Amino acid sequence: MFDRIARRYDLMNDLMSGGVHRWWKRRLVALAGTPAHPGAKALDLAGGTGDVARLLEARGWDVSVCDPSDGMMDVGRARTRATSRITWVSGVAEELPFPDASVDLVTISFGLRNTTDREAALREAVRVLRPGGRFLCLEFSTPHPLVRGLYDLYSATVIPELARLFSRDPEAYRYLTRSIRVFPDQEGLRLMMLKAGFAEVQVRNLFFGIAALHSGLRPVPGLTKDPVS
Ligand SMILES: C[S@@+](CC[C@H](N)C(=O)[O-])C[C@H]1O[C@@H](n2cnc3c(N)ncnc32)[C@H](O)[C@@H]1O
Repeated sequence: MFDRIARRYDLMNDLMSGGVHRWWKRRLVALAGTPAHPGAKALDLAGGTGDVARLLEARGWDVSVCDPSDGMMDVGRARTRATSRITWVSGVAEELPFPDASVDLVTISFGLRNTTDREAALREAVRVLRPGGRFLCLEFSTPHPLVRGLYDLYSATVIPELARLFSRDPEAYRYLTRSIRVFPDQEGLRLMMLKAGFAEVQVRNLFFGIAALHSGLRPVPGLTKDPVS
């Protein structure tokens, strides 16, 4: 599906969110901060067309994008300057082609929802992180009841209309609204992260909870608070 929508993916994101997704991604990258040492490695899972990867690279991270859609990564490569050192790796989050404890930061933006086995994807993120390394997940979440009605109306009317007018694959955008509805809420994802083995899990709501940023650390024995079992 992502191969089919790749060429218009960024345009549709800008139209559907009024550009707000760019601000959310900048928030994610601000939380990642600058790398603690030269050559620190960041892995952007489900990295698609590389928005987050380019922002991380600009902050000094040595970035790999991992995504199963060559169509999305081809668009990303074409949008990335020739001198970029981003590496593009074909693979799924549930079975990462990276060694244990080999990266300092794992990010995933609007990608966890699309994995078929979220628990496996979270466990894999823990595995590839070095102890003390950070995981950051930006994803749609459950909005505050005050904005819920307006948000549901927008999803049911404006998004299908934008998809009809601008996308060659409106079914993909029906999938989008369905997948958001069945994704765990803020607390549900927090508990999944703890169960997968992350410590010090924190949640930040964006735009009244329309999206949320979850962060967690691969535990360092004796230093980070232990995850619950
Ligand atoms: C909604 S796009 C997000 C792209 C980008 N991260 C962003 O924020 O714009 C979802 C991405 O997840 C990828 N994807 C789907 N299934 C996946 C999986 N099992 N593991 C990793 N990525 C996956 C898709 O190919 C697609 O590029």
